[in-house]
Amino acid sequence: MSAAIRYLPGFGNHVATEAVAGALPVGRNSPQKVPFGLYAEQLSGTAFTAPRQENRRSWLYRLRPAAAHAPFTRYEGAPQLRSAPFDEVPPSPNRLRWDPLPLPSDAPTDFVDGLVTYGGTGDVATGSGVAIHGYAASADMVDRAFFSADGELLLVPQHGRLLLVTELGRIEVAPLQIAVIPRGVRFAVALPDGAARGYVCENYGSAFRLPELGPIGANGLANPRDFETPVAWFEDRDAPCQLIQKFQGCLWETRLDHSPFDVVAWHGNLAPYRYDLTRFNTINTVSFDHPDPSIFTVLTSPSDTPGTANCDFVIFPPRWMVAEDSFRPPWFHRNVMSEFMGLIHGAYDAKDGGGFVPGGASLHNQMNGHGPDQAAYDKAVAAELKPHKIEGTMAFMFETRHVVRTTRWAVETPLMQLDYDDVWSGFAKARVA
Ligand SMILES: [Fe+2]
Repeated sequence: MSAAIRYLPGFGNHVATEAVAGALPVGRNSPQKVPFGLYAEQLSGTAFTAPRQENRRSWLYRLRPAAAHAPFTRYEGAPQLRSAPFDEVPPSPNRLRWDPLPLPSDAPTDFVDGLVTYGGTGDVATGSGVAIHGYAASADMVDRAFFSADGELLLVPQHGRLLLVTELGRIEVAPLQIAVIPRGVRFAVALPDGAARGYVCENYGSAFRLPELGPIGANGLANPRDFETPVAWFEDRDAPCQLIQKFQGCLWETRLDHSPFDVVAWHGNLAPYRYDLTRFNTINTVSFDHPDPSIFTVLTSPSDTPGTANCDFVIFPPRWMVAEDSFRPPWFHRNVMSEFMGLIHGAYDAKDGGGFVPGGASLHNQMNGHGPDQAAYDKAVAAELKPHKIEGTMAFMFETRHVVRTTRWAVETPLMQLDYDDVWSGFAKARVA
């Protein structure tokens, strides 16, 4: 599949790609006459006057203007998709954990209709916060496309590959890879392996980018060269297509008489991209203690407060554990940031007692205590601290500065584990005398 161009999301390097030789204008973004009579269209991801370091935009050259469509009317599908502000139920201080979403077994369900919202933060009206969705799908999106005007979409497949057909080209993304689709970019999802499940962070805030490296230096964590963006690809297809958009929390639909994937060439620094999580260069202690999980940040969406993310995307990949005289899993903690976790495969090292399984999820909200379960604690304090490699695992976290307010579905679904608090109920009292 044609995701081949190395790409640094947002940090200045621009991609230029054409599916037909000569389609890309040379030396001008918007010439009087575009080659082949294509229509030039700018797609902005930031305000025009955003600083150069932040500025994201691409120029698209297409068979028809994206503006050529009938009015949108409300779309009534995707029954479990919700949007900020999240006020269906009071935000819960409880530690919450869920079993995996079941794969659809009755009616065929595509990616859009299979979106289910756990919760989120912020407000689409002011462009802050995130929504956290899962998806469980069994059918390709046929003659329909989707985009979110409310935020970019970070897709984390857990089961089954996704073929993302986007305006800017096609990307295949498998479990252990992620993809990011910018706000407003139209796309369809096909399922090469059949049924698929995964997680989505819909980021209402500033676009994800690589974190600063500080004293780590010029290399490490996710390396820019490993981000891939698609090459231009288009279809010249005059057939009806349903176009669904999420706009200020509601879904709307219109009908096109053609494929929306008709961009023949494009250039710029705003495009879908994918990243292989196994390429993450994991940094950790080689002396003692358990560093904060910020060392595992793949992408960050900064807020207006320096160092306090609207959302960090953090992974817990295979890695050596070598710390001496240390409790190697995460100790107990209460954080000002709120943590939504998912598991792509394997086991997470702070939960040895079961319950946090691939495809499942957990939520630990602001200032509420959590940490190792009894089994993980017992094992960690008794362990002989030789170098040890954690293998065959990939957990992740969407960590946000704001409390994750759950949806009604999230706290009423039978997938929620009513006994989750019990994992911290059996700890013996420490004795000081
Ligand atoms: Fe935590």
